[in-house]
Amino acid sequence: MDYAVIMAGGSGTRLWPLSRKDRPKQIIDIFGGETLLRKAFERLLPVFEPKKIFVQTNDAHTKKVKKILPEVPKKNIIGEPYMRNTAGAVGLAASFIADKDADSSMTVVTADHIIEPEDKFAQTLGEAVQFVNDNPENLITFGIKPAYPSTQYGYIRLGKRTAYDGSEVYKVESFKEKPDAVKAEDYLESGNYLWNSGMFVWKTQAILSSLYHYLPDCKKPLKKIQKKIGSKRQDEVIEERFKEVPKISIDYAVMEKSPSVYSIKLDCSWIDMGSYDALMQVINQDSDNNALSGSEPELINCSNNIIINQEDGHTIAGIGVENMVVAHTDDVTFICPREKCGDIKEMIEQVRKNK
Ligand code: GDD
Ligand code: MG
Repeated sequence: MDYAVIMAGGSGTRLWPLSRKDRPKQIIDIFGGETLLRKAFERLLPVFEPKKIFVQTNDAHTKKVKKILPEVPKKNIIGEPYMRNTAGAVGLAASFIADKDADSSMTVVTADHIIEPEDKFAQTLGEAVQFVNDNPENLITFGIKPAYPSTQYGYIRLGKRTAYDGSEVYKVESFKEKPDAVKAEDYLESGNYLWNSGMFVWKTQAILSSLYHYLPDCKKPLKKIQKKIGSKRQDEVIEERFKEVPKISIDYAVMEKSPSVYSIKLDCSWIDMGSYDALMQVINQDSDNNALSGSEPELINCSNNIIINQEDGHTIAGIGVENMVVAHTDDVTFICPREKCGDIKEMIEQVRKNK
């Protein structure tokens, strides 16, 4: 059987104060429509029935996730008592899926992206699932043609294209997680690299054995958890043991090390909704290029701003404001020149310290 898991566990700090630990970006409504989590779920439906879809999230958010995705069986919504980064999250999800079907395939998608067109995505997803079922040792990452020299993504250096009927599949020669600006520029120019989308497909057993091999300290706690899945002690054992899994991303833990990594080219537009600049690309803009979400602001001679107002009945008003982010929530108003948004983490720390 083929299963999928949506990773919805990050806290999305670069979109503070809209996205917080207690209401991360995947489950808040930024676009005045569907949440990113709901979008990610709907993108999977052409290939997976809801009962084949798992969601991996922070323990504190399982209730909200159940509300957003009522079609997904409740026991498929896995709450993590601690964040162990994506290697831990993938290991835990793989343990649940292996419990259902030891010979399954497992597709991992994130809830942070806007991907279009959706039918192209579904077609490539279907082909990737077929590819790993035919090549059960291989680990597949979805690769995106880089649009600019980002230092925020992992890069995949492509090797030989494999003989495969369908999408373009390449052997991955090497995997470079988040390069510096100079390297990112080189990678873009060379034309030999794709962005790692952070979405993967593999056989559940292949990723479990890779995790045990390249991250041996995760084996014991995951094995202990696997024994109790579906039993009364399941949550207790996860609580006890999951913290023993090393905190590291799947990219550093496995993808950079394994010789069995392949990349399938996803020929879609792909935006990681991780930052205000990314929001600028998807939120409707007025005739002065202000991206606006929530209650309409009153503006005179304002342009190129991102203005998000999440409080009903509150009015944001501006005169002559340019290239700013204004994000208003019920308890915080954040104001920042767009090019300074990289310093948000510092701000969050300051707010935390002073409250
Ligand atoms: N359930 C769960 N638990 N999910 C997690 C956890 C966790 O502990 N940590 C991260 N995630 C989720 C995030 O919500 C996100 O959907 C995804 O896993 C990737 O984590 P990020 O923290 O956003 O990773 P990144 O942006 O630094 O880098 C990854 O994604 C890039 C593409 O967006 C890497 O895979 C890069 O190589 C890739 O280019
Ligand atoms: Mg990210």
